[in-house]
Amino acid sequence: MLRRLGLSLATLALASTGVVALAPPAAYAAQAGSEAGAGGDTLFPRQGDARYQVRSYDVSLDYTPVTNRLTATTRIVAVAARDLGRFDLDLEGLDVSRVLVDGEQAAFSRDGHELTVRPDGGLDRGRFTVRVDYGGEPQEHIDPDGSTEGWVRTADGATALGEPVGTMTWIPSNNTPGDKARYTFRLTVPTGYEATANGVLVSQRDEGLTTTWTWRADDPMATYLAMVSIGQFDVFESQTESVDGRTIPIWSFTDVTGGDAAAARRLLPKVIAFQERLFGPYPFDAAGLVVDDADVGYALETQTRPFYPSVGAADGALVHETAHQWFGDSVTLVDWHDIWLAEGFATYAEWLWDARHGGDTPQEHFDDLYDTPASGALWRPAPTEFTDAADLFGSPVYNRGAMTLHALRKEVGGDDFFRIVRLWAQRNEDGSVRTAQLVRLAERVSGRELSPLFRTWLEKAGKPAGY
Ligand code: TRP
Ligand code: ZN
Repeated sequence: MLRRLGLSLATLALASTGVVALAPPAAYAAQAGSEAGAGGDTLFPRQGDARYQVRSYDVSLDYTPVTNRLTATTRIVAVAARDLGRFDLDLEGLDVSRVLVDGEQAAFSRDGHELTVRPDGGLDRGRFTVRVDYGGEPQEHIDPDGSTEGWVRTADGATALGEPVGTMTWIPSNNTPGDKARYTFRLTVPTGYEATANGVLVSQRDEGLTTTWTWRADDPMATYLAMVSIGQFDVFESQTESVDGRTIPIWSFTDVTGGDAAAARRLLPKVIAFQERLFGPYPFDAAGLVVDDADVGYALETQTRPFYPSVGAADGALVHETAHQWFGDSVTLVDWHDIWLAEGFATYAEWLWDARHGGDTPQEHFDDLYDTPASGALWRPAPTEFTDAADLFGSPVYNRGAMTLHALRKEVGGDDFFRIVRLWAQRNEDGSVRTAQLVRLAERVSGRELSPLFRTWLEKAGKPAGY
């Protein structure tokens, strides 16, 4: 509540300095909604359906690690922007036994990952509910760059990771980042196993042979940030106080075979406090981390509870994934081509941390990268201009993305730069954004024309001259 008050004061301050409120992302839904089965994202146009928005997912799943067997029910509350004869969910693999819409059995068909639902007599615009009963053996999903996501089995269970599209391997969902919703996870596992997901632990009920862990993620979340992790874990519970006085509960789960990540767990509250001073209040009501032996080769900023294949205090991953809680998770891209809004900021957050902890300054990071020859992979494609999904996690997105922010800082000065960054996080808290909105905000705060700078750094292949 305190945080809400802080937010509205900030909004008032914004209005009184003549900064005009940014356009809501509603234009996106209207424009993208003309085609059935199109989510509106330009990189994965077959993911999602822009004609409705999900309010909440309630995911009940029963999982047996030794057989990789899943039995699940997902209940969705959604709002249709118009009357619909049919609508699409995304679900890859698994068998669907039944779909109910507003409590009535509905016809459905499957084509690749499209699960098309045709309610009898169609749907009126407005609120509707969907219940999907499904199960089977959930699978990994291999991305265009060869990396693994989706339902990833481990030695003693599984971890589900969803960037960019893998959540459809276990939740029938409107699987596009522009549709954020609230989640409840009810995870039933053999007693003796632990099960975590995003958000706050509501209950842990021992039913004898099985135990049900219920987690609730009350802040809107993109599907790609949903996670579950099931296995044999050590569970650590603590708390930290946010800059605005809230008590943030911390739940961390570390695989029993992989060490207890003590150094990283000790550092987490310090990283949050450091970033709150730079970016504003921590945007969520829970925190933590998960360390598991899902062999994917990357960490992931799963909301409130990032995943690490391993984590030490010294590597930048803890700082990076924690910064994503503001940039990417709370303030979420609508279109994957804007992923630099997540990765550029998270990388820049690492530079800011380094500078305060005896490492290179942002200017030194920038200069080192700027020395990359013009032929280097850093310079093409430009951060927002890739056409191949294999370039989503490339050096232009991360490093040139962070360099873009440093170029902005040099142009507007440190005071305005951090004002822009904080306003970006506050104004768009729990929201959905596009790059153009950041350009407008930066121009309004600084009083300068900045579209040439952003165009040079984000859209033009090749090495920007004169920096
Ligand atoms: N978004 C993750 C991060 O920066 C990284 C990531 C997710 C990734 N999927 C990937 C990196 C696939 C390489 C390949 O924290
Ligand atoms: Zn990242």
